[in-house]
Amino acid sequence: MERTYLMIKPDGVQRNLIGEIVSRFEKKGFTLVAAKLTTLSKETAETHYGEHKERPFFGELVSFITSGPVFAMVWEGNNVISTARTMMGTTNPAEAAPGTIRGDYGVQVSMNVIHGSDSPESAEREIAIFFKEEELNTYEKNV
Ligand code: CMP
Repeated sequence: MERTYLMIKPDGVQRNLIGEIVSRFEKKGFTLVAAKLTTLSKETAETHYGEHKERPFFGELVSFITSGPVFAMVWEGNNVISTARTMMGTTNPAEAAPGTIRGDYGVQVSMNVIHGSDSPESAEREIAIFFKEEELNTYEKNV
């Protein structure tokens, strides 16, 4: 079963959007495998966003993502990587479609509420940055 790493950014946490966002993925039918509220170190942020190191906004990105707690999550389900990104909307919230998380809750690209892995390789790498193997829960839904 596919897994992805999703992270509610400091703006989403501070605007009390954790419950709303978690609820969307629950209602969609995905399974929450792990979650924690955590404040990223500069080192962890730079590792997570390593692919953007040469971008002009890298400093701003690291500074923002370490500015307050994030809600780090692992979700599991059929096609969860791509479907979660569809549910999130495009990177720039000002252009994201209404009904998507970014389309409904954001206006600035630097504060776009949520991050989601963009490929199976990214998901594996990002899950390993934030969670130990024993923190990933495996369970059947019996209800
Ligand atoms: P995310 O999906 O977390 O991945 C990289 C992040 O870089 C992206 O969301 C945006 O929040 C951020 N980003 C992309 N473009 C810009 C930009 N021009 N200025 C500031 N931040 C940006």
